[in-house]
Amino acid sequence: MSGQAEFLIFGATGQQGGAVARALKAKGKVVRAFVRDPLGERAKALHGEGFELAVGDLFDPASIDRAMLGIAGVFSVQTSSPAGMVTDAEEVQHGKAIADSAVRHGVRHLVYSSGGGAGKGPTRMGHFDSKSEIEAYVRSLPIMTTITRPATFMEMLLLPGMGLPQGMFSFFMHPDQAMQMIALGDLGRMNAQILVAPDRYQGEIIELAGASVTGAGLERAFTKAAGRPIGYRRFPPALLAGNPFLNRLTELLDSGLLAGAADLQALSREFGELTSFEDWLAGPGKPLFEAALREREAEVALR
Ligand SMILES: NC(=O)c1ccc[n+]([C@@H]2O[C@H](COP(=O)([O-])OP(=O)(O)OC[C@H]3O[C@@H](n4cnc5c(N)ncnc54)[C@H](OP(=O)(O)O)[C@@H]3O)[C@@H](O)[C@H]2O)c1
Repeated sequence: MSGQAEFLIFGATGQQGGAVARALKAKGKVVRAFVRDPLGERAKALHGEGFELAVGDLFDPASIDRAMLGIAGVFSVQTSSPAGMVTDAEEVQHGKAIADSAVRHGVRHLVYSSGGGAGKGPTRMGHFDSKSEIEAYVRSLPIMTTITRPATFMEMLLLPGMGLPQGMFSFFMHPDQAMQMIALGDLGRMNAQILVAPDRYQGEIIELAGASVTGAGLERAFTKAAGRPIGYRRFPPALLAGNPFLNRLTELLDSGLLAGAADLQALSREFGELTSFEDWLAGPGKPLFEAALREREAEVALR
């Protein structure tokens, strides 16, 4: 690897890595993006934006080693079992492989992006407990490390299947129950600030969120943004009864674990203004929201 990159970003073709890579670049940093397929559209876009590419696969430790050469700061994130590409054990294997390689190559600072459900005891949710295991491993490393635990991404709300196009949105919360969330832009900005100031953040575990959102709040925000009524209800009991995964996540929200533990005021003091759900919906989330609403028009047009 002959480039002059200071930072290596894993998952750079994905949501978190892409946001962190771009936020670092906006700070004028030279960034290397770890990609599996350099000819894929997202990798080509990164290359076009001026990122150095390191081609590899987390199943291939030698490729991780090649990417680490000359790097001072690493952003580590792994895909997890719900996305369908890895088991929970493979997520752990990938997280540890990045950590081991960073130590072997004398990397100064490793930022591991975990999740809000991790590090607070066993959850019986595989992709939370996997992160607890990676966190413990990262904390044991003889280099500077920071663990960030992002809340649920606001972008998740606009995935298909939650009823938005039909005018009745469903998610985990009761109408009056709050859940912390974060816009990917804020996640990128916060992790980038941490990466460029290792001495300030080393050894810390930071819960990341940008807003606290209730079901009723979603109803109000979606209705205003759509210009027509969008109702809200928690996932129906029959759906939860037939879906152990969603049911366990709902239980974890009710137990408080998934509600979020970030100190929003402290985050705002440290990282600057946080993006509220309404601002996200009117800004970076607008194209996603409009696309989600257009799904309905497409359905109607096909009838
Ligand atoms: N969604 C949420 O609200 C939320 C909240 C907190 C934490 N999390 C956690 O966030 C993580 C996922 O982050 P994300 O949403 O940014 O991921 P994402 O958008 O799904 O992207 C996954 C990235 O991992 C790369 N990747 C997958 N398998 C790989 C391999 N074998 N070798 C190298 N790279 C590989 C993908 O590359 P390709 O482009 O080549 O596929 C892609 O860049 C999960 O662990 C999840 O549990 C999610």
